Amino acid sequence: MSHEQQYQDESQLPATTAQLNHTAVYAGDRRLSAEFLAAILGLKVGAPFGPFLPVDLGNGVTLDYYEKTGEPIQSQHYAFLVPDAQFGGMIARLEAVGVTYYADPNHTEPGQINRLFGGRGAYFADPDGHNMEIMTRPYIRP
Ligand SMILES: [Fe+2]
Repeated sequence: MSHEQQYQDESQLPATTAQLNHTAVYAGDRRLSAEFLAAILGLKVGAPFGPFLPVDLGNGVTLDYYEKTGEPIQSQHYAFLVPDAQFGGMIARLEAVGVTYYADPNHTEPGQINRLFGGRGAYFADPDGHNMEIMTRPYIRP
């Protein structure tokens, strides 16, 4: 049984669970930024929902792109756990659109990927300077 099926009935949620459902992502141009992320990750941009332009990540979480104009956008960090089989295609799409990826979060190792936790990972900036990360293995936390 998948997690989605398992948690369809909220009464079955473990008492202490809070699943992230959606969050707003600030963008100077919501269409540009949503299309960028969707294109790189191989996802689709949904229909506008009021001021939000959603990208459904396919795991029950939606990024709601929200336009913030007239003031600087604080860079945030978003990390995506992606299927191993999709990672190479994502790197290829970054290369195709001329966006540099890095092995490290501080963007000092351009054109390289990391091998953290036995997987592969990379960082890249979105059009608003958000620090995006793709990884094939979750962090192993102490
Ligand atoms: Fe991270």
